[in-house]
Amino acid sequence: MISRTTIDTVFETARLEEVIGDFVVLKKSGSNFKGLSPFSEERTPSFMVSPAKQIWKDFSSGKGGNVVSFLMEHEHFTYPEAIKYLAKKYGIEIDEIEQTDEQKEQADERESLYLVSEFAKDYFHRVLLKVEEGKAIGQTYFKERGFTDETIKQFDLGYSPNQWEAFTSEAIKKGYKLDFLEKTGLTIVKEEKQFDRFKGRVMFPILSMSGRTLGFGGRILTNDKKAAKYLNSPESDIYHKSKVLYGIYHAKQSVAKEDNCYLVEGYTDVIQFHQTGIKNVVSSSGTALTSDQIRLINRLTKNITVLFDGDAAGLRASLRGIDLILEQGMNVKICTFPEGEDPDSFAKSNSLEQLTLYLEEQSQDFISFKASLLAEEANNDPIKKAETIRDMVESIAKIPDVIKREVYIKECSRIMDISEEVLFDTLAQILQKEKRDHKKTQKGTEGLKVVPSEKQTIKKVDVQFELEQKIIEILLLYGTEEEDFEEVHLETNEEGAISFKSEIINSKVFEKIYLDLQEDEIEFTNNDFKELYFEIINYFNQNQEIKIDSFMSQLHPEKAEAISSILMDDEKHQLHNWESKEIYVKPKKNSLPQLVSETILTLRKYLIQQKIEDLSIDINDLDDSQKENSLQDIVDYITLKKILSEKLNRVLN
Ligand code: CTP
Ligand code: MN
Repeated sequence: MISRTTIDTVFETARLEEVIGDFVVLKKSGSNFKGLSPFSEERTPSFMVSPAKQIWKDFSSGKGGNVVSFLMEHEHFTYPEAIKYLAKKYGIEIDEIEQTDEQKEQADERESLYLVSEFAKDYFHRVLLKVEEGKAIGQTYFKERGFTDETIKQFDLGYSPNQWEAFTSEAIKKGYKLDFLEKTGLTIVKEEKQFDRFKGRVMFPILSMSGRTLGFGGRILTNDKKAAKYLNSPESDIYHKSKVLYGIYHAKQSVAKEDNCYLVEGYTDVIQFHQTGIKNVVSSSGTALTSDQIRLINRLTKNITVLFDGDAAGLRASLRGIDLILEQGMNVKICTFPEGEDPDSFAKSNSLEQLTLYLEEQSQDFISFKASLLAEEANNDPIKKAETIRDMVESIAKIPDVIKREVYIKECSRIMDISEEVLFDTLAQILQKEKRDHKKTQKGTEGLKVVPSEKQTIKKVDVQFELEQKIIEILLLYGTEEEDFEEVHLETNEEGAISFKSEIINSKVFEKIYLDLQEDEIEFTNNDFKELYFEIINYFNQNQEIKIDSFMSQLHPEKAEAISSILMDDEKHQLHNWESKEIYVKPKKNSLPQLVSETILTLRKYLIQQKIEDLSIDINDLDDSQKENSLQDIVDYITLKKILSEKLNRVLN
């Protein structure tokens, strides 16, 4: 277990904007940063980071929270994983408290999968560098491919001994459980027997964006036609093939800096490019490109250049990937290599200057690329030509930006020598059809929605939730401010007439709220808010001043999530620069006492109304004497409600 001191140091040191900046390109926007949501496909930024408050909010997905919740959401870390990650990033030594056997057993499974994978990476790397077999076979192979020692180290390349269970035995000897070895696919278990999956292969560890080992690709060294050239880790809790890009960890900085990402097919393409000096390159590892993979790149840049091997065999099949890229509003270029060459071989036999020049000169936009495909296939075949044109317009229809669409239609018209008018008509048809299909699917899902029969219950939850949330918001934003509050008391004169007497009392906002709620013994119904409420009150009592950034960063991720929406709501306008357009009017703070009193009174009134309703519902099931008591209660509550309404009116006027 990580010690409390370590956790505290981590929270004091970590800066949210720096941590998020490793994953999302952030631009300054007023006192905040904004960027493209890493949780959805979007083209205009709706992701906000507040350095002052140390919270983030993603307005497109509704997610938000503090530094830890970001890592939990984005990297799918557990809490301890997130702390460890931050400690590593900021060079903080982790002070571990001894765990009991039971605690060890319960230690998070995912963390165990990560640890096993990390161990395997180091093991294969060590075997490659230090063990005779690794040196003789693995290193020789990599050297033949032209990889330098530095490259081998940088990508943590490795070698898995050509024995049935060399790795598995070593891992078990080191205390790693067979269960996790099996779940990561490193070991294959068959009827009491265990085998190393990657026996006799050179190893390519696959890392996440943040550098954790997720899985492996292993290349065979023999020319055995029956065995697969590459073996990959099977899907596991930590490795999802469709969501990773090989090389993303090593490429991310360069991708953002160059504002372009080269997309290749193989492991060795990535490595060879790096060694030649082009670092903004990732690979989909031989699988068809997915939206999730594109989204990884979309966080870093808007521009992708897809590099295709010289053997145009799988070319047609890969075209779908281009539409997926266009769909995300990204710009895509395509570059092919000469017959028989792939990016790896081309980079190996050319200098950085030659390679850079080639990429510059040969990269075409997707329209010219599709046109050139046709030219190769059958230029004189009118049917083929018509098909190609339709295919082009279908791709253009994927582009969300209207202006870009128009530019491409014109380009298409020029290249294919066909009138713009016809192309625009076709485009309109395709868009219409998509709209219709879209509507249909939307209708379909709507039909599935469950409509709650009791309207009352929805309202009940909502109003109370809103009011409790409002109180938390007031506490966080203005808790320690001193204000004059009008305290209204009830007075009854000799004739029994009721009048109000008011008195001005100066107090801190949080004290006023605390005392008022205590007076009525009001408890929050929402558990998060309830716990938060006490945490905030305690914090104020101890500190007298709330430093929102330090308060936020220590908060449990779930609570941080709840609060981030509250605190970020007033920042939302910044996304659209409404402030500068003078559309957005900031709420005035001068009515703070009014806001406080109004909120508390409304909550009290609301709770009393609930009481009255509950009592009225139950009343028929009661016997006569109980009924009488209940009726009296109801009358009392109604009186109280009237008084509260009066007070509320006074506050509001
Ligand atoms: N691949 C795979 N399984 C295979 C073949 C290929 O997973 N049986 C993936 C690998 O990620 C590989 C990529 O597809 O890197 C591209 O395949 P290919 O072009 O055949 O291999 P190269 O990268 O050129 O590999 P090498 O140069 O080592 O032959
Ligand atoms: Mn190759």
